[in-house]
Amino acid sequence: MKKVYLETYGCQMNVSDSERVATALGRDGFEMTADAASADVVLINTCSVREKAEQKLYTQVGRIRHSERPKPIIGVLGCVAQLEGETLLNKIPGVDFVVGTRAVGRVGGILNRAFDGESDIVDLGEREDEYDWTVADTHRHSPYVAFLPIIEGCNKFCTYCIVPFSRGREKSLAASEIIRQILELKRRGVKEIHLIGQNVNSYRPESETGLEGFEGKSAFSRLLRAVAATGIDRIKFTTSFPRDFNEDIVEAIETHPNLCNWVHLPVQSGSDRVLKLMKRGHTIDRYRKQIDRLRASSRDIALTTDIIVGFPGETEADFMDTVDLVKHCGFDSAYIFKYSPRPGTPAYEMEDTVSFAEKTLRFLELEKVQKACQEKRLRRYDGKVLEVLAEGASARTPRGITGHSPCHKVVNFVADSSLLGSIVNVKVTEVKANSMFGEVV
Ligand code: SAH
Ligand code: SF4
Ligand code: F3S
Repeated sequence: MKKVYLETYGCQMNVSDSERVATALGRDGFEMTADAASADVVLINTCSVREKAEQKLYTQVGRIRHSERPKPIIGVLGCVAQLEGETLLNKIPGVDFVVGTRAVGRVGGILNRAFDGESDIVDLGEREDEYDWTVADTHRHSPYVAFLPIIEGCNKFCTYCIVPFSRGREKSLAASEIIRQILELKRRGVKEIHLIGQNVNSYRPESETGLEGFEGKSAFSRLLRAVAATGIDRIKFTTSFPRDFNEDIVEAIETHPNLCNWVHLPVQSGSDRVLKLMKRGHTIDRYRKQIDRLRASSRDIALTTDIIVGFPGETEADFMDTVDLVKHCGFDSAYIFKYSPRPGTPAYEMEDTVSFAEKTLRFLELEKVQKACQEKRLRRYDGKVLEVLAEGASARTPRGITGHSPCHKVVNFVADSSLLGSIVNVKVTEVKANSMFGEVV
């Protein structure tokens, strides 16, 4: 049996694609291995969102080529593959094939061709008509948590972002198929489903089959209610796009306890001027109103965001607006990024006015402000009881178990491993910078 090592960078969509690649390869008679050094094939599922992410591909292929062993077959998958196509074959010596974001279902066939001696294979085609969205239990990143894509691609074209180019246009999965899969996952012992997509609230299926009779202005809020009705313990969803984030989504969360109290709503900047340059399609006033509505909810909804500092033309005043916004919103956590110019995007053509040193200063300053807000938010949980899904052993403590709350906080506690896979009441006894510690009650 040929052994395949698969490494994954980037977002949940890539993790999810990799799970399906591994499932298909298993079915095609390959064996997946966690040991790169002994693998006959090395697959790298790549990310292109920032230069640093893309760089990982080059570093990793270099490392494999310079290790003392026969060269494995090397295949590049994912976003860099889609964007660069066959140029990768020349750019990175040692790469045998390139498979785009929607061609991942064909990796098995391509591998067989590569073993037959064919080289320089490139497939950037569309998904097959009967693409299989299921993931085998053994290839899921967790036995208890499942990622389920509900929409692929992105039509938004924010000026800094490469994703619309690497992932193509938005395409929603049929609601009936989503529901079918969730019922199956529930039967197999999965406790938590993450509905994933670049913009889940842009969900627009071709037909309403499966959504009949469910309330809500948007197809996404009707889907949330339909998914809640499956009775699965927990449903989370990422990412939400502010422009299309409407009250009906909050109402669905308020009606169904199994829709988790966590919303990830990337704001990107606190300045309307910069948001316009980014073509985000939302204003700060509107965003603040959305946050106020979420904060007023009976569900105590946790709120997280993404922010870019140093976008072309961002002045000190624009940056201070972002600082103010972060103080106002009190995010439970925020992913802060330094703007990274991506070739092919409209912002790449704009003058990169903020120096790297200045980007770093702004990053550190914003991080400091966010950390202070975050600490305050997290301290509210001290002494409270959270329902934690026991997901895995925590490496640091003996008998330590780690898991997430419905509000998506990491909670560690000590308990018997027989509790893995169950939802446990944990009283928080210690709040750390990015996680909490507690005891079973
Ligand atoms: N679809 C989601 C997330 C896309 S990528 C959304 O619309 O928010 C995840 C995050 O990476 C983005 O939210 C953004 O903050 C960041 N990002 C995307 N392109 C970037 C770039 N060129 N430089 C720095 N950060 C970037
Ligand atoms: Fe990128 Fe904007 Fe699409 Fe998000 S919404 S994936 S940031 S283009
Ligand atoms: Fe990266 Fe592609 Fe996801 S660029 S963030 S892996 S969609």
